[in-house]
Amino acid sequence: MLKPNKLTNNHFLSSLDVSTDECIHILEVAKKFKNDNFNIELKNKVLGLIFDKSSTRTRVSFQVAMSRLGGTIIDLNPTTSQIGRGEPIKDTARVLSRYCDVIAIRTFDHSDLEEYAKWSTKPVINALTDLEHPCQALADFLTIQEEFGTFKDVVLTFIGDGNNVANSLILCGSLLGIEVRIACPKGYEPNSVVINKAYERYKNKNLLKITNDPNKAVLGANVLYTDVWSSMGEENQKEEKDKVFNGFTIDSDLVRKADKDAIILHCLPAYRSKEITDEVFESKKNRIFDQAENRLHSQQALLACLLS
Ligand code: CP
Ligand code: NVA
Repeated sequence: MLKPNKLTNNHFLSSLDVSTDECIHILEVAKKFKNDNFNIELKNKVLGLIFDKSSTRTRVSFQVAMSRLGGTIIDLNPTTSQIGRGEPIKDTARVLSRYCDVIAIRTFDHSDLEEYAKWSTKPVINALTDLEHPCQALADFLTIQEEFGTFKDVVLTFIGDGNNVANSLILCGSLLGIEVRIACPKGYEPNSVVINKAYERYKNKNLLKITNDPNKAVLGANVLYTDVWSSMGEENQKEEKDKVFNGFTIDSDLVRKADKDAIILHCLPAYRSKEITDEVFESKKNRIFDQAENRLHSQQALLACLLS
């Protein structure tokens, strides 16, 4: 009988905060929650949510996950709590540690998330920062595993901005030994520290490729993945990025160059005619809504492991 194991690290700030075995374990527990009527009781446990940026999927999936586990959530809206008035993170973190059992935070600077984790005695989860989106990557790899039954020989190609989502795909991909190719315009490559950490982790260094050529990156790929060109907080760069990213849209021409059974993923929200065409988005290859559903199961598993 599978039971959620406690993770070595108290916090989940980065995809690399778990080991390969722990990552595989979280995905196994997620599949049990999804398919086998498996449940555990986290009665009376409280998840605090601090979201400095908008969210639909992350917010709702954390709420539903906690409710299915028998616990509850407190949504600390930064504009109506003292957080928005500038109370120091170290004070907020120490106070919330006395009330909550776990805290999920979506914010801009990754260093702010680390500051919360430094002062919190309870687990802190990264619900997206400018640097990483590790909860998204868990759901993404769960979706890939469900589709192909294995990670062996699966090629994941991400086309777009080398942003938080791409960074977490690279890091989680390095843990799981998947081939990850990133195609982005010059100057929009993923974070160099992230790339170096991933190369350290990969047993086979050829499995990570960063290129500026989407046509090359897509050849024979099993998974085509994209994300918005302008992330939250980059609204003022939209016009410029729309120009620079011209040629990086996932359209049917690009899809034809991938493996014939390739699937399409997108973390959502999506902007049709920018990073993806409506035709590709709505095609049979789309696993985007399974991927969105898997946010729930993988976060339920993550919470169960962090709190067990
Ligand atoms: N993919 C994702 O994190 O979606 P939200 O911004 O809606 O949470
Ligand atoms: N890169 C996007 C992801 C949204 C889920 C952003 O940060 O806005």
